[in-house]
Amino acid sequence: MDWGLANRMHRMLLPASGNTVMLAVDHGYFMGPTHRLEDARATITPLLPHADALALTRGILRHSVDPTTSTPIVLRVSGGATVLQDDLSHEALTTSMRDAVRLNVSAVAMSVFVGSPHEHDSLVHLADLVDQGEEHSIPVMAITAVGKELEKRDARYLALACRVSAELGAHLVKTYYCDGFSKVVEGCPVPLVVAGGPKLDSARAAIELARHAIDEGAHGIDMGRNIWQSDHPVAMLKALRSIVHEKATVREALDVLETERAHPTARPPVATA
Ligand code: R5P
Repeated sequence: MDWGLANRMHRMLLPASGNTVMLAVDHGYFMGPTHRLEDARATITPLLPHADALALTRGILRHSVDPTTSTPIVLRVSGGATVLQDDLSHEALTTSMRDAVRLNVSAVAMSVFVGSPHEHDSLVHLADLVDQGEEHSIPVMAITAVGKELEKRDARYLALACRVSAELGAHLVKTYYCDGFSKVVEGCPVPLVVAGGPKLDSARAAIELARHAIDEGAHGIDMGRNIWQSDHPVAMLKALRSIVHEKATVREALDVLETERAHPTARPPVATA
């Protein structure tokens, strides 16, 4: 791996744990002003110092994130469909590598829609993006989208989507936790991070999801709604950090959540790179 590409990977995956706590705030690209992300700047600003990377689109980056930040940026570069369409898989590359370079990003990200009507297009776009990423030493994260077809969130399907993404050259893959997740990890030669999906019933459920994913081989999380739709988003993010970086048990992470709710500390417990 080229030095520049390796350096960008290690900005996101902290050397001490090899893992990352990525904050996902890209939902508006197809969902519009998602609940509690309506004012993106207000949502992002208090969370940013506690995230190892921030995943978003160029519009929200330019308008809602202060350029003094040192938090690595994972730039979503695919889009083209909204929740108004039945078929969310009709995406293309919507941001050039040139603009990604201009924005000084640490990685670019796009959705791949294995098993969808536009499977072929999304896979060819991924391969093309990897070629461009290699040329500029910018890692590519493939996002194994499940769209509205949540029943596809099973190990056989996700293992296929993750492996295909890695075979086409993705340097990092974002997927979903599922029963049999270790099979997904075993079949994927590049680091996997897990999304949270729609807000779960409790903070414990989201923390357990992260604990299970890390125990079964994930290199971190790329989580959104279970953090910023929480009533205590910073405390939630810190609790998740303890899982991802400090081998905390679910009980210990819940203690972090309670402590941070009561007495917030200024900085994350694990130093960022
Ligand atoms: C989909 O909109 C994006 O890829 C999200 O970044 C991803 O689903 C992670 O966010 P959440 O944890 O809210 O699912």
